[in-house]
Amino acid sequence: MAGSMLQPGPQPPSAATDSLIEALAEVRRFIDPRLEELVAASDDVPPRLREAMRYALLAPGKRLRPALALWAAEACGGTWEAAAACAAAVEMIHAYSLVHDDLPAMDDDDLRRGRPTCHRAFDEATAILCGDALQPLAFQTLASGLPPEIAGVGCGILARAAGGGGLVGGQADDLAAEGGAVSGSPEARLEALERIHRRKTGALFSASLALGGLAGGGNAQFSAAIERYGRAFGLAFQIADDLLDAEGTQEAMGKRVGKDADRGKLTFPVVLGIDESRRRARRLADEAAEACGGLGGRGEKLAALAHWIVHRSH
Ligand code: IPE
Ligand code: IPE
Ligand code: MG
Ligand code: MG
Ligand code: MG
Repeated sequence: MAGSMLQPGPQPPSAATDSLIEALAEVRRFIDPRLEELVAASDDVPPRLREAMRYALLAPGKRLRPALALWAAEACGGTWEAAAACAAAVEMIHAYSLVHDDLPAMDDDDLRRGRPTCHRAFDEATAILCGDALQPLAFQTLASGLPPEIAGVGCGILARAAGGGGLVGGQADDLAAEGGAVSGSPEARLEALERIHRRKTGALFSASLALGGLAGGGNAQFSAAIERYGRAFGLAFQIADDLLDAEGTQEAMGKRVGKDADRGKLTFPVVLGIDESRRRARRLADEAAEACGGLGGRGEKLAALAHWIVHRSH
């Protein structure tokens, strides 16, 4: 894999990588038409706002959160169809979070998923409203797409992950930590950084898995394994994102690189250095893959994904 962030070092066998990439493409073929339909079906949306929602949601991302929801449902013996609403809802929250993350008041980025960011392609007010509209659509999707006896629990799982104690809180602390604002011992900075990453990124990954498990009928043993997997996966993923910002290419990433350093973000490469960040990402990926052992032989794709996210180039 040219440009892989973990070179030099052991790479996963390319056949495994190919089959994981095909598995992600399969997720995309499953979820994209559903996302398209859900945006089209929401009533009374002004055309320009709807176009912005489509633009943000259907852009060519990796669809990792839908994959986690669908593969978690599959791992506990459920079907993709049962978890379809969960997969759509988590991608809606993710897409909104990217639109808002890119706004001038936040990371101020021009490029996302290989295209102009939403506020660049439309305008700032439309981008804010697009995010505002995608959030309730996610909850509406869960409320009407899950069986009534679990819909309330599902909405609660997503609300906690997306809210002030989860993604939004992590984003607030990420911005507050810009420009070297977090001082103290390396241990204290690392602790602050992990706390940011676990909420801004990890919480939604964990919710994707928990929702997939809920829809798929997972038991307590499943929940324990998936929780361990999610914690390690989320942190490994965001360390990789930080490393790719430092070392990846705009062409592969479809977003600007070097932006964390420009804004003085608190990141893993800043606190631990590149090499130790790589080692930590690999260790966490191994830990996530090991947790799949508790899934009774149905966690191969989740294990492969954990390795892939730290070897990816985008
Ligand atoms: C990017 O997430 C934003 C972060 C949480 C760091 P992804 O890398 O999953 O973005 P897409 O969905 O593939 O565009
Ligand atoms: C974004 O983190 C996290 C969320 C959108 C919640 P980053 O700011 O690191 O994501 P990129 O690098 O812009 O994709
Ligand atoms: Mg950000
Ligand atoms: Mg950003
Ligand atoms: Mg980043």
